[in-house]
Amino acid sequence: MAASRVHYLLLAAASILLFFGIAHQHDQVRETLSNAWNKGAGSSSSSIDQSGTIEPEGHGAAIPSPSKAAPTAAPGTPFVASDAPSFHEIALKHGTDKVTTHHYWFMYDKYFPAIRDKKLKMLEIGLGCNMVRLWSGQVLLHLAGVLPHVDLYYMEYDAACADKWAADMTGATIYTGDQADKVFLQKFIDETGGDFDIIIDDGGHTMNQQQVSLEMLWKIVKPGGMYFIEDLQTSFMTSYGGDGMGGKDPSKHTMSKLIYELLDDKLQGKDGQRHAISAEMRSIDCMREVCLFHKQEEGTI
Ligand SMILES: C[S@@+](CC[C@H](N)C(=O)[O-])C[C@H]1O[C@@H](n2cnc3c(N)ncnc32)[C@H](O)[C@@H]1O
Repeated sequence: MAASRVHYLLLAAASILLFFGIAHQHDQVRETLSNAWNKGAGSSSSSIDQSGTIEPEGHGAAIPSPSKAAPTAAPGTPFVASDAPSFHEIALKHGTDKVTTHHYWFMYDKYFPAIRDKKLKMLEIGLGCNMVRLWSGQVLLHLAGVLPHVDLYYMEYDAACADKWAADMTGATIYTGDQADKVFLQKFIDETGGDFDIIIDDGGHTMNQQQVSLEMLWKIVKPGGMYFIEDLQTSFMTSYGGDGMGGKDPSKHTMSKLIYELLDDKLQGKDGQRHAISAEMRSIDCMREVCLFHKQEEGTI
């Protein structure tokens, strides 16, 4: 009887020891997994930027935060970090070649969500007078949905079209003139006071027009602001005065050549050497037919 009681006590003690052993092992596994995750993020301390990406301090790859994609985002849209309508959705609904013929929505859905709630001053070069659609209202509508607090300016060469537009529409300011005319551009700068958050060049599309406008209007982009140029394929189209030899004609200064020179300045750390505008350029982000020239903020590289 005494022996079986001893056996019973030994069995109970063994069960208790086994229970604590398993619990300890479980804690160790949890700690190991947690360390592995922190190591993968590059550092134990990290921050989340406006795009919803976790940026590790120091070196290491950024880890995307768990799906922040808006339900309306088109497949492949990067960094859409809010539930607001995407540029892609609104542009498709109202009709613009930024989403039909071209893929510019990809750029705008990459950069606009982070500034959606801000008061913004924006210039678009080119109203769309040559396009078969109710152009002006649609442009305003899609901007209103994507950037609701925007103070919108247009620059347009076609005076009759600009006058008709101005009579039909409110909510934007239009300047009539040639985007490659430096005198006109200076007048625009003086009268509007500059300080633009966004400039989109969707005007005449020749590389000369694009380069003159960039050179003149870059100075009125706010620190941290964005300058987009659409339709860069025209640098290689003879009908637009471009290089029909695919970039090999030395007499043609394509947009690609300008971008190469700007990158020479940036990558050598010799800002402003080949082009004054590279001194304030934080980065250049290009994809098919469009580039964004991003201005650096004061006190940053
Ligand atoms: C492709 S459309 C613009 C489309 C419009 N931005 C949109 O998203 O629907 C080009 C416009 O640029 C105008 N344009 C052409 N040459 C120009 C120039 N040198 N300066 C300013 N605007 C110009 C045209 O009259 C036309 O209205």
